[in-house]
Amino acid sequence: MLSTKTVLLGASRRPALRRALVGTPVTRQVVQRFVAGETLPEALAVVRRLTGEGIAVTLDHLGEGVTDPADARASRDAYLALLDGLAPLELGTDAEVSVKLSAFGQALPGGQDLALELVRPVVERAAAIGTTVTLDMEESATVDSTLAVLAELRRDHPATGAVLQSALRRTEDDARALAVPGSRVRLVKGAYDEPASVAFRDRRDVDAAYARCLGVLMRGPGYPMVGSHDPAMVGLAQRLAAEYGRAPDSWEVQMLHGIRLDEQRRLAASGTRVRAYVPYGVDWYGYFVRRLAERPANLRFFLRALVSR
Ligand code: FDA
Repeated sequence: MLSTKTVLLGASRRPALRRALVGTPVTRQVVQRFVAGETLPEALAVVRRLTGEGIAVTLDHLGEGVTDPADARASRDAYLALLDGLAPLELGTDAEVSVKLSAFGQALPGGQDLALELVRPVVERAAAIGTTVTLDMEESATVDSTLAVLAELRRDHPATGAVLQSALRRTEDDARALAVPGSRVRLVKGAYDEPASVAFRDRRDVDAAYARCLGVLMRGPGYPMVGSHDPAMVGLAQRLAAEYGRAPDSWEVQMLHGIRLDEQRRLAASGTRVRAYVPYGVDWYGYFVRRLAERPANLRFFLRALVSR
């Protein structure tokens, strides 16, 4: 039987559903819970609020899967404008950015080179204002290409970050390869629907793999970023940090904007470094559907809003 996640993520690729959902006021109302706004000033207002509360941010200008090189160049320009907007706030690495290479043309013919060419100036501008870029991870078919772009970028900017998904069978090996000095790795469970040939399909296997990969990263000399809302994973990270004598500024917990804010505040107040992933922009559809797909409670919240109108 197909899971809700499979059905939702499959439906997310259908243009008719996209048009129907994007048009409704209810969708917009629910989207506001997960997305900081459609414009840069709205996103910067959230940055000021969260950093004022001691929560660092990584900003995502929403967009993915571009099929036109002009859109890929527009993604680069949006990130350059974002970094220009962050510069006067002088937040350093407390405000970094996350990019999806598919928004930089990765899926186009010759797309890996194009994505590298377009993301490089973003990484350079980030370095110029004292901050970093993290490359989000998308479908499993893009992992080799994304890690190849990462390796190129890390030659000049070794603090460029990567994301690894514990759902993928290959990830423990990738974690070992990336557990090197200066390397920043966000470990997540994985938000995409992947076949059993490359991914664990059972939640318990994904969690067990997360724990193993976390062990590899926390033992290593890099900077682990624990991307999870799961109290079991955050608790494990804290225990491993204590066991390996990690300083509080040598790792961090990351959660999505609008999810478990009280826990983000509690962790930050207790001395754990916390960063919120803050998406903004008009192209929120793919991001929104992944949030509905990964948690039944999010889907129920959306359906309740629909029927209560
Ligand atoms: P999971 O959904 O497995 O839930 C486990 C437990 O956590 C729940 O039982 C509950 O106790 C608690 N929990 C979860 N959500 C909660 C909520 N809303 N309220 C209360 N409790 C909750 N994916 C990807 O493929 N590529 C990427 O680049 C990224 N990037 C990314 C950045 C950041 C900062 C985060 C946090 C996540 C991502 N992801 C991602 C998404 C990730 O792969 C995954 O889909 C989600 O984080 C959901 O998995 P969790 O580990 O958070 O908990």
